[in-house]
Amino acid sequence: METERLVLFLPSVDDAHRVTAYRRRTRERSAPWDPQRPDAFFTDAYWRTQLQSNFDDAAAGHAVRFHFAHRRDAEGEIIGHVSLSQIFRGPFLNAYVGYAIDGENAGCGLATESVGGAIAYAFETLGLHRIQANVIPSNSASLRLLERLGFRREGLAKDYLRIHGEWCDHVLTALTSSDWEAQGR
Ligand SMILES: CC(C)(COP(=O)(O)OP(=O)(O)OC[C@H]1O[C@@H](n2cnc3c(N)ncnc32)[C@H](O)[C@@H]1OP(=O)(O)O)[C@@H](O)C(=O)NCCC(=O)NCCS
Repeated sequence: METERLVLFLPSVDDAHRVTAYRRRTRERSAPWDPQRPDAFFTDAYWRTQLQSNFDDAAAGHAVRFHFAHRRDAEGEIIGHVSLSQIFRGPFLNAYVGYAIDGENAGCGLATESVGGAIAYAFETLGLHRIQANVIPSNSASLRLLERLGFRREGLAKDYLRIHGEWCDHVLTALTSSDWEAQGR
């Protein structure tokens, strides 16, 4: 899938080295906001297995975990990821979105653009109704990104996720397909 400046794709097993390189590059940057990762998470062997499992999850309709690169260098460096996970159908039609971008490409709207692309895919292609995103209150860049895309703050969940070994409160936010349409997206 393409946005104005990015190509979002599901990396194949043969792309494992590109994903590993991206994860190694962003290891320190993502650590304060991510669950604690074992050293194995930063190896090709881990990603060869995980990327196959990501394909299986996408085929089963459980999760779509995009990585993205610049359109001008689509076969080159992976610079970020945006995932739609825990996709529930039935009366919920909901997914959770998670995302990150590497330090070199941060601060120029590309992360917002990637999440916007994934949201359009969730509503228009997957037919979902609601996307949720939960954020540590001190993660100002992430909260601002969600605000720009029209996510509504719905509350604060105490000790919501174990991040970097500590239970952390999270701001709960959500966007519905009708919010998205009302913005003229
Ligand atoms: C969250 C993240 C993806 C945002 O990336 P980004 O490149 O800053 O995003 P964008 O350039 O698209 O812009 C996001 C907005 O946040 C603002 N912003 C960026 N850093 C900020 C900061 N430290 N404090 C306040 N606002 C900030 C930007 O100015 C922009 O708002 P604006 O358009 O009104 O100026 C990035 O910081 C990241 O990868 N963080 C580590 C992983 C992470 O936190 N993931 C989310 C977990 S919930």
